[in-house]
Amino acid sequence: MIELYQVSKTVQSGAERLTILRELDLKIPDGQFVAVVGPSGSGKSTLLGLVAGLDAPTKGRIHIDGEEITRMGEDALARLRGRKLGFVFQSFHLIPSMTALENVLAPLEIAGRRDARERARRLLEDVELTERAHHYPSQLSGGEQQRVAVARAFANEPSILLADEPTGNLDSRNGRHVFDLMVGLNRRHGTTLVLVTHDAELAARADRRISLRDGQVVADETSDENVREASEELEEAARP
Ligand SMILES: Nc1ncnc2c1ncn2[C@@H]1O[C@H](COP(=O)(O)OP(=O)(O)O)[C@@H](O)[C@H]1O
Ligand SMILES: [Mg+2]
Repeated sequence: MIELYQVSKTVQSGAERLTILRELDLKIPDGQFVAVVGPSGSGKSTLLGLVAGLDAPTKGRIHIDGEEITRMGEDALARLRGRKLGFVFQSFHLIPSMTALENVLAPLEIAGRRDARERARRLLEDVELTERAHHYPSQLSGGEQQRVAVARAFANEPSILLADEPTGNLDSRNGRHVFDLMVGLNRRHGTTLVLVTHDAELAARADRRISLRDGQVVADETSDENVREASEELEEAARP
């Protein structure tokens, strides 16, 4: 469970104090798929960065599975991230000098997993990139690079996946593929998925939509399970 209590973020911008997030209260239960939507500049990426402990709020508290991350030091935070969190960003953030396989392998080796190599291969298979295992990021298309990033994010079976406009740099077909992979992993493994997206159609498939505007939640709607399933079926049927 992710919990935010009265979380605010302000930054000093020249002579001005800029409020990016304003007294946010939010609870995201385990396994929920949440879409975070809102205009550019509304605070979506800042929110994700705070949940990841990559940045600290100016005020308020954030808990992950009951642990207050806003009180943790860098080492404890790094351990928590390694154990529980996966990230996918808009620009794929792969290591250019490593092949697809090595990019997926890296977090597994850091975690000291004995089955690292076998698991990395299996993850690449899950994202349908077995054939590209020995290619470098520069030899892969955007969609392929993002699929490597998804495989890497899932390497250590995080309980929470944070994705910041992961399909933003992809054409709709590749975006769809990456999105389906993330949702599939969310459903199969019960991973909590917090997805920032501009795409209303993708957001409609989430369990819940949180709309931000000027650093505040202006709408928070949870889908009726049956309605969501029906809309997924309709979409499925409409697909070429
Ligand atoms: N470190 C910073 N210093 C100054 N302004 C920032 C900083 N980080 C973010 N902002 C500003 O805060 C607002 C929200 O940013 P962001 O969270 O990236 O929004 P979104 O992801 O919704 O587009 C934007 O106006 C952005 O320019
Ligand atoms: Mg952003």
